[in-house]
Amino acid sequence: MPHTLNQASYDQLPYQNCIVPQTHPDHLATLGILHGMTPPAPEKCRILELGCADGANLIAMAQALPQCELLGIDFSSVAIAQGRKIIESVGLTNITLCHDDIQEVDFGSAQFDYIIVHGIYSWVAAPVRQRIFQICKKHLSAHGIVFLSYNTLPGWTETRAFRDMALYHVRSLKDAPARVAQAKTFLQFLSKSWSDTGATHYLALKNFCDSLRQTPDFYLGHDVLEVVNEPVYFHEFESQAAHHGLQFLSEAVSLKNISDLPGDIAAGIRENAQGDWIQMEQYFDFVTDRMFRCSLLCHDKVVLQREIKADRMCLLHVGTKCRPQSKSPDINSKKEEFFSCGEGVACSIQEPIGKAAMLYLSEMNPRSVPFSVLLLEARHRLQKSLSSPEDDAEVLTHELLKMHRQNIDFVKLQTSPREIHPPGDKPVASPLVRFMAERYETVVNLRQEHITMGRLNRHLVGLLDGSRDRATLKTDLEKWIREGGLGPPDSDKSIRAGIEENLESTLHAMAAQSLFMN
Ligand SMILES: C[S@@+](CC[C@H](N)C(=O)[O-])C[C@H]1O[C@@H](n2cnc3c(N)ncnc32)[C@H](O)[C@@H]1O
Repeated sequence: MPHTLNQASYDQLPYQNCIVPQTHPDHLATLGILHGMTPPAPEKCRILELGCADGANLIAMAQALPQCELLGIDFSSVAIAQGRKIIESVGLTNITLCHDDIQEVDFGSAQFDYIIVHGIYSWVAAPVRQRIFQICKKHLSAHGIVFLSYNTLPGWTETRAFRDMALYHVRSLKDAPARVAQAKTFLQFLSKSWSDTGATHYLALKNFCDSLRQTPDFYLGHDVLEVVNEPVYFHEFESQAAHHGLQFLSEAVSLKNISDLPGDIAAGIRENAQGDWIQMEQYFDFVTDRMFRCSLLCHDKVVLQREIKADRMCLLHVGTKCRPQSKSPDINSKKEEFFSCGEGVACSIQEPIGKAAMLYLSEMNPRSVPFSVLLLEARHRLQKSLSSPEDDAEVLTHELLKMHRQNIDFVKLQTSPREIHPPGDKPVASPLVRFMAERYETVVNLRQEHITMGRLNRHLVGLLDGSRDRATLKTDLEKWIREGGLGPPDSDKSIRAGIEENLESTLHAMAAQSLFMN
């Protein structure tokens, strides 16, 4: 039996664990390397997730990283049972999900290289928050990294008031789905009343109510209405971490940092913070009204390099999913050029060395290249570079990091090269991809990314279990279409012709999307 209201609410309204690419050990190791650390090899490490829900995030990692050992714990028996079913169906042996309470769990003398605590800290009582820090300190290996997310002030100030009012309204209800339904109706009512009375925070409430229309019930039920929700100022979080012998390393997900702000604001922050990195982070939150952080922590004895320089970038590989928007981008002047990786998703670059580098990376996509090779190639492409290789390296580092912060699809940084193997004679899609394609429109690839697929490709990927060559694949696909797999067979002929023509290129595209095991 659940022993707290909090635990019951997660059983009644299970949290749909989301895939967070920024929790991938390669991303954490990359940030560690950039800040002067020598973190454990991401492809052969031990990973722990506290409050893993159904373990979807960990399961995707376990599939992609067969040499890693993964452990997830959660006190929702419903979520753990769901996750275990998936693990069994997919046949993974390197992951364990345990039904356990963060407050009571005993890891013995186990050490973990990467510890993930996402969407928990702000929603649990103070003793559990202390316990999270204790677990991280005791069980993090010497050069390991913790990913810990939490709600921050001042960004949560208004939402906290809306939450208080909604909580008051549902105070007598115990059932989580009923609380969500009542809270939604009440917030809409409040928003309407405020629009008539011209209340000061009307616009913020209206935006909040509008955002709720697009979010699933579990978000309102847990992220907003959970009994405990304690946003903190960054400096409070940092001093708690320090008290437990852990230090702030960097943010794992950050759209901007100080150097992306307008010059006078960045200068103001620096002046107020008097060169102190922790204070700078706090002033940044004040200026941007931040409401959420995904902070990385490491042991306090680790020596960190706060300012990222090209010498650290030289240890990494770089890739992009972007293409230039213009057919012949001008890389030699400071004219703004756009590189996009999907509709409405584009980054703009002005620095010649940055544009030359992005052009080269887009030609190499989906492969990545070492930073040192990228620098050489980019310089080679410029008609004349007036800067020294060292200066170009620093400018390129700055440009790549700026794009990487905006979106990891713009610039992907990683610890090892990205290899793409062509589809074999009898291609094998990842068992997790096959499992998901049978049930959902979106699957998770071997790079912890969501890939959305049409029905035909979902069916095709399900056939890729290593038992079929090209001829068998074509025959099986055609049979499926004939039997109405794609609906009424009016476009049957053209689809069949499409399969004939496109099978090979579709298989190659799937390989480039990291859906294959080989
Ligand atoms: C908001 S969800 C986040 C799930 C997941 N980490 C994610 O980001 O998608 C919080 C999860 O923490 C679990 N949880 C909360 N308190 C816990 C505790 N004391 N011990 C174990 N699990 C806990 C809940 O059951 C729930 O699955």
